[in-house]
Amino acid sequence: MGTRNNFIKGLPKAELHLHIEGSLEPEQMMMFAERNSIELPYKSADEIRAAYEFSNLQEFLDIYYLGMSVLLKRQDFYDLTFAYLQRAHADNCCHVEIFFDPQGHTGRGVEFADVVEGISVALADAEKEFDMSSRLIMCFLRHLSEEDAFTTLEQAEPFLDKIHGVGLDSSEVGHPPSKFRKVFAQSRAKGLKIVAHAGEEGPPEYVWEALDLLKIDRLDHGNRSMEDEELVKRLAAERMTLTVCPLSNLKLCLVDDLKEHPLRKMLQAGLKATVNSDDPSYFGGYINDNYIQTAEALDLTQGELAELARNSFTGAFVDRIRRAELLRSLDKYVSGQDGEDFARWPR
Ligand code: ADE
Ligand code: ZN
Repeated sequence: MGTRNNFIKGLPKAELHLHIEGSLEPEQMMMFAERNSIELPYKSADEIRAAYEFSNLQEFLDIYYLGMSVLLKRQDFYDLTFAYLQRAHADNCCHVEIFFDPQGHTGRGVEFADVVEGISVALADAEKEFDMSSRLIMCFLRHLSEEDAFTTLEQAEPFLDKIHGVGLDSSEVGHPPSKFRKVFAQSRAKGLKIVAHAGEEGPPEYVWEALDLLKIDRLDHGNRSMEDEELVKRLAAERMTLTVCPLSNLKLCLVDDLKEHPLRKMLQAGLKATVNSDDPSYFGGYINDNYIQTAEALDLTQGELAELARNSFTGAFVDRIRRAELLRSLDKYVSGQDGEDFARWPR
């Protein structure tokens, strides 16, 4: 049946902006809390869900760090990750790039090895079971010091065969990319890819810093870049991929309504925007929910949806062969060669 929602559901796509700790569903939070004998300030999953009303990034982060405190053992990280991968697979995600926040765990006494190994084994299992490729990106918490980030990079050293890149997340305003210039330079020297959250709540200047000082390979969010014409030109000229997260933007009040979301304007300005879920459990939707609700609000065309999926493959940190494979599956789908008929839905 040629409806837009069916087109989205079957569309091969990659998720490039997903915090694994942000996929922790309230039911899982209760289950892990019980398993690990951790006391939560909530009595039920419904009570947890009711607390998910945010008016800015910090209000969300406070609950997000509390939520992840139920994760203690290697098995917890495995279970959390595999559950997310099953959901991503159901949404026709063929490739995922997962962020994790090691400092959110090591700061509570969890071993770095347990976090990375738990997540990595789940990624390997998904590759076997779903033919889903993946990358793991370690984020530095920007509300902590650069020295702390250096310690984390040292802890990661034995696991660099499993970690493909480094990122920057947490409270943006007051913690500009320039605060982390040295640790990103050292990460780059180790061959790691560089990404950073910038222009989510922070001003366009933070995006300039991410480009010029951190030398990012990809930009996470980047919404506020739209306030600066020169910056938009620069991002377009560099074919910089932006990992945009519409439901996150709505839930954190960056936009009042998805109808006001800048996604189409980004594409029209020549930006390589992609659609992602950020913290799906907290923001009310996984990747297809993000595509479907944004498509509905902005009345996105089949061409625009295919462009978003294409951008997710061109922006992925994969080798030439895997990229060609992913793009081929998309072309086949969009041209209808795989048997789906979207002729009744205007291109
Ligand atoms: N950590 C998890 N989600 C985040 C977001 N949307 N912005 C900054 N840090 C985060
Ligand atoms: Zn994020």
